[in-house]
Amino acid sequence: MQNPTVRTNRLSFVFAAVAISAVAAIFGGWSMWSGTDSKSPPHPPSSAGNTERFVGSSNCEECHAEQFQNYLQSGHARTFWSTRDFPLREQFDGLTFEDRERGKTFQYRANESGVDVSVPGVFGGDRFPLQFAFGSGEHAMTLMALTPDGSGTPVGIEHRVTWFSGMDRAALTPGQLGLKVQHEIEHFGRVIRGETLERCFGCHTTSCSIQDDTLVDLIPNVGCESCHSGGASHATLMADDPTATNAGFESRSWRTDKQISICAECHRGVNNIKPSQIRRDNAKIVRYQPVGLVQSKCYVKSQRLLCSTCHDPHQHAAKRSTRDYEQKCLQCHSADVSQAVQCSVSPSTGCISCHMPRVEIHPTISFHDHWIRIRGEADPPAIEEERE
Ligand code: HEC
Ligand code: HEC
Ligand code: HEC
Ligand code: HEC
Ligand code: HEC
Ligand code: HEC
Ligand code: HEC
Repeated sequence: MQNPTVRTNRLSFVFAAVAISAVAAIFGGWSMWSGTDSKSPPHPPSSAGNTERFVGSSNCEECHAEQFQNYLQSGHARTFWSTRDFPLREQFDGLTFEDRERGKTFQYRANESGVDVSVPGVFGGDRFPLQFAFGSGEHAMTLMALTPDGSGTPVGIEHRVTWFSGMDRAALTPGQLGLKVQHEIEHFGRVIRGETLERCFGCHTTSCSIQDDTLVDLIPNVGCESCHSGGASHATLMADDPTATNAGFESRSWRTDKQISICAECHRGVNNIKPSQIRRDNAKIVRYQPVGLVQSKCYVKSQRLLCSTCHDPHQHAAKRSTRDYEQKCLQCHSADVSQAVQCSVSPSTGCISCHMPRVEIHPTISFHDHWIRIRGEADPPAIEEERE
């Protein structure tokens, strides 16, 4: 398939041609994660430069096989890929995408070093590597290139095109419609720099640091140690003395706020969002489960509702049946519980679809609204659940 007469350039080739000044970031889409709309940007637990030693999740399997096996099927185990071995190689190999807004065409090809792209209308036959992909593909997967800019500083290019699993096709990356090309490099997508770039990798990997167009000390995905920091010393201690109890760890005794704040480091918490955005009609916040949950009367009045009350944090959330989730509600809302408030409409079933339904935030991308409440006209419209 490979055409030997075609050069594959590093994207820095484009930077060399255009002196690029600070690029005004435009927010929305994935980059709403980057935190400019927030009081304090989220701090992923594993950002670059972290000096902690990580051993990687596979080193936990030997003693924690159950958590490990469940984990392998969860979204956390698939948040970050090299395009050398990501699951969409076939879809991208030979793909042509028409960018109608700009009147340009992207042509993709898979090769042994990953996926590359050409934009014939701008760069002729030159091809540029897109080394990484973000997202499990449950909703979507976005490609990303790393390259040094004109001054040698590594920058990320969030590619303009994303694969949407729900549509089974490529479309513009959320937030990039209307993005003007001020610098040639932006033909490929949005330029992401500095701390914002580190945060992308910080939330989607367990550890890594960025050097030029590569990542060093990479432990991809949200691994065991993203939530259980100190895994390395624990594993060593346990190997030396298997009778030690919980050496270095406290996960079971995490208080409600502590656990929620660990999840909120990536899923976003109330400190990462302007108070004025926390409104019941704001559909965007359904993406931030920790923000919604703590608005719920269930949380406020019980003071003991954790993420793990309903989720096994090691398991893919959709593996648990809707009935199982309802059982969690009934732990606090059934006639058997003293002082429990019961539903007058449907006391034993259907809780999720009425009180925490799916809400769409982008075509084919929806989340369950974790602001558990009695819903009315002012709330974002619910969409139907595809599964039982
Ligand atoms: C050599 C065996 C061994 C290895 C390797 C190991 N653990 Fe453990 N771990 C244990 C034992 C034993 C316990 C305590 C028994 C228990 O409570 O289940 C434990 C307990 C834990 C707990 C529970 C703490 C609590 O609050 O109850 C967590 C979390 C944990 N390990 C995470 C990890 C992670 C993450 C790794 C990989 C980085 C890892 N372990 C590697 C043996 C091991
Ligand atoms: C603060 C942590 C954080 C940062 C920073 C972050 N992400 Fe994410 N990302 C997440 C979380 C959490 C999800 C899962 C959303 C969900 O499914 O609840 C996610 C999901 C995704 C998905 C899958 C689509 C989806 O909605 O499930 C893509 C693609 C993605 N991120 C790309 C990026 C890119 C590109 C960047 C950098 C511009 C980035 N992310 C920065 C936390 C982060
Ligand atoms: C998304 C965050 C997260 C990740 C990733 C994660 N854990 Fe946990 N883990 C937790 C939380 C939260 C608890 C406490 C659960 C509870 O209180 O019920 C926990 C509890 C545990 C426990 C105590 C027993 C139990 O199941 O409650 C062990 C052992 C453990 N984790 C091991 C692991 C291993 C091994 C991995 C990687 C394969 C891993 N964890 C990945 C969040 C995580
Ligand atoms: C280091 C960042 C990070 C932390 C910490 C984190 N998550 Fe996630 N989580 C992600 C990303 C990124 C995704 C997106 C995966 C995808 O693209 O589908 C995700 C997806 C999920 C999903 C949907 C996918 C699935 O398999 O069901 C659930 C549920 C989830 N996280 C729960 C939690 C809980 C509960 C905690 C805290 C105990 C937590 N997460 C902590 C980054 C994180
Ligand atoms: C840890 C206990 C607990 C769990 C689990 C729980 N709730 Fe609640 N919930 C409460 C408490 C306490 C209140 C406040 C009752 C009162 O007004 O005194 C409440 C209130 C509510 C309300 C009324 C909200 C309002 O704004 O008036 C609804 C609806 C509700 N819960 C539904 C659910 C559903 C659905 C689930 C499962 C997805 C659930 N709850 C899980 C404890 C819980
Ligand atoms: C009262 C029960 C309950 C609690 C507490 C809860 N969740 Fe969920 N969560 C659900 C249900 C139900 C789903 C839908 C699962 C499915 O069927 O796919 C879900 C789905 C998710 C998903 C997948 C994306 C989505 O929204 O559909 C993420 C991510 C998630 N929860 C994160 C969290 C985090 C983080 C916390 C703690 C801040 C948390 N959840 C607390 C019930 C709960
Ligand atoms: C068909 C939609 C629907 C289903 C299914 C449903 N609810 Fe409700 N629920 C409502 C409505 C509407 C109200 C408000 C009723 C009112 O104001 O009289 C409500 C009220 C409540 C309240 C507040 C009661 C009070 O007096 O303050 C709780 C708690 C609650 N529901 C929990 C649940 C639980 C738990 C389930 C699942 C076992 C469930 N609901 C199933 C629609 C539903």
